Amino acid sequence: MYIKNNQLFLGKFSAKFLAKKFGTPLYVYEAETIRRNYLELIKNITYPKLHIHYACKANTNVIILKLLRYLGAKVETVSRGEIILALKAGFKSKDIVYTSTSVSRDEMLFVVKNKVKVNLDSLSQIELYGKINPNTDIGIRINQGIGAGHHSHVITGGVMSKFGIPLEHLPQARKLVKKYKLKIVSLHQHIGSNVLDKNILLKACDKLFETALNFPDLISLDFGGGLGVPYLTKEKSLDLKLFGLGITERMNNFCKKYGRELTMVLEPGRFLVAQSGIILTTVTEMKINPKRTFVGVDTGFNHLIRPAMYGSYHEIINASKIEGTKIKADIVGNICESGDVFGRDRKITYPKVGDILAILNAGAYGYVMASQYNSRPLPEQILIDRNSSKLI
Ligand code: LLP
Repeated sequence: MYIKNNQLFLGKFSAKFLAKKFGTPLYVYEAETIRRNYLELIKNITYPKLHIHYACKANTNVIILKLLRYLGAKVETVSRGEIILALKAGFKSKDIVYTSTSVSRDEMLFVVKNKVKVNLDSLSQIELYGKINPNTDIGIRINQGIGAGHHSHVITGGVMSKFGIPLEHLPQARKLVKKYKLKIVSLHQHIGSNVLDKNILLKACDKLFETALNFPDLISLDFGGGLGVPYLTKEKSLDLKLFGLGITERMNNFCKKYGRELTMVLEPGRFLVAQSGIILTTVTEMKINPKRTFVGVDTGFNHLIRPAMYGSYHEIINASKIEGTKIKADIVGNICESGDVFGRDRKITYPKVGDILAILNAGAYGYVMASQYNSRPLPEQILIDRNSSKLI
């Protein structure tokens, strides 16, 4: 993404051209950004036995899944649907891990049938799994009381969170494991989403190392995802270098103590794909009211729910006219609810009806959370890769 002739460009295409060719609203992803983020991550974490399981809930587009697979990623899934998409994208069962919540017997049967690895999230899940697939290796997801994230809805560790087996229940978990002749070969935790402070992530890792010393059969430790990206221009990025150094050093020390080299698993979702995606949308109306100015566009919270659901900030620019006289306006969608606001008091180059706006950082938890509310269809998605643009 860059600016040329005062317009936004992706690859060799102007946003205006793409909007005309494919129509709006339109999700546009840049393959290069995903590659760059993936390579940046593995460059900074030098621990040799590192497995990156892309948390595909962030973006399940099969072409994007394939792209990550070609880069060497494995995948993390939460549902039968995600497993089907991962298999369709060519991931082998052994490279798929399933970590979910409130799982039905049918879904668990599907997981077992497809030989997907599991991280079991509760005592009842261990019981369910043990009955279906005794005498096998499992991972368990634990809740060690540490949580973090950009909004309370996405904090997944701590007493208020439904996720994981609390440390107090580990003795019961061990009993069930024994009853069904299971073997705990992996410990998993995920403390929450969009964490920008490396110290919180490392603190949670330390706690997992402490717990792991009591599990003699481990093959891997899964630290979950949560690696954040800045949405506000003033926000500082996660210090990947120090995070990488910190987690590698800790893992090395732990393995020495443990007596064996374990695999380090990370499950980033947002970090890999958020910055790769934008939404192009057309300005459909300008409403200059006595006290506020509203810029209406042809998409809404049905296509990007993050601002309405979490109050999340997504930068919005006028892709047709980057520089020019600015106004302060509320950028609003076409859904019949007052909460359908992408941003209030945004400084934006004076839009006119027909201009194309770009909503940035929409590659993660954008399309996957979209709906057809108000009976408006889902947008198309395209991928820009090495000067090609194709529907995906
Ligand atoms: N692993 C597990 C077990 C998870 O539950 C999640 C996300 C991830 C990995 C990936 O987390 P990430 O690296 O993307 O932070 N819809 C929300 C985010 C929900 C995240 C749920 N779990 C949002 O738009 O901010």
